[in-house]
Amino acid sequence: MKTKRSDHRYTEDIAREYELITLAYPDFEAFQERMVEGIDFSGAGSEREGPFRLLEIGTGDGFATVKLARALNRAQVSGVITSIDIDSRMIEKAQELLDEHVGNHHVHFLASDALAYLQDEPEGSFDVVATSFTLHNFDNAYRREVETQIHRVLRTGGLYTNADKYAPEGQEQFDALAHHVDEFFTAFLSRGKTELLRKWVIHNISDQSPRHVMFVEETITRLKELGFRKVAIDPRQNLQGLLRAFKG
Ligand SMILES: C[S@@+](CC[C@H](N)C(=O)[O-])C[C@H]1O[C@@H](n2cnc3c(N)ncnc32)[C@H](O)[C@@H]1O
Repeated sequence: MKTKRSDHRYTEDIAREYELITLAYPDFEAFQERMVEGIDFSGAGSEREGPFRLLEIGTGDGFATVKLARALNRAQVSGVITSIDIDSRMIEKAQELLDEHVGNHHVHFLASDALAYLQDEPEGSFDVVATSFTLHNFDNAYRREVETQIHRVLRTGGLYTNADKYAPEGQEQFDALAHHVDEFFTAFLSRGKTELLRKWVIHNISDQSPRHVMFVEETITRLKELGFRKVAIDPRQNLQGLLRAFKG
């Protein structure tokens, strides 16, 4: 396992019962599905030789991995998905989920810190880098390095897509946070999950802290500076946004 200096905020019990998050995000599955639908699995326009290559950062339970693997199968192209997570227990869970739901798949799991993995990969080695609900956990400096490396490892014309928490600014940010916390109360209190609710509320507040927050406009500006083009985060719902950016 490759490790480095990331701030791993995704703690024990939150990780163990991560699947409960879908209760607090009514459109969790649809949101990830939209991200997957935005990927052209044919690798069209690629001058890179070999099979289509997709990197997923932050496997988690494997919810998005399953959708990516199914989409790759539907596309009927030769391709490989590499899915990395810093937590080997999450990799094990995801592997089980995938084996159960996608019989014949081409997913290669790896326990690794995202930045350490990216730094070791050659330039232009992926057609797509996809990630969901992971980068918002990173502190800003680490995330910037990860984005720089994502740009480097993508081939020209390659897609970087992220279904994640992108915050609006000012009052709207706090209104969205209040709404989001309210959804966690509704989902978790009625199921008696008070300790987990406490942890998620603290986590959600910390997501909006200066150290972690991913602002929409700031992200778009930075990605353009890195050399991405056609950068868009759209459409936003509360604190969720779907990012698409192409390596210029
Ligand atoms: C909130 S989960 C998201 C999982 C999944 N992508 C989803 O949408 O359901 C974030 C995952 O990122 C992983 N993670 C956190 N920091 C990481 C890092 N520096 N490198 C790689 N994975 C990391 C965590 O272990 C966790 O499984």
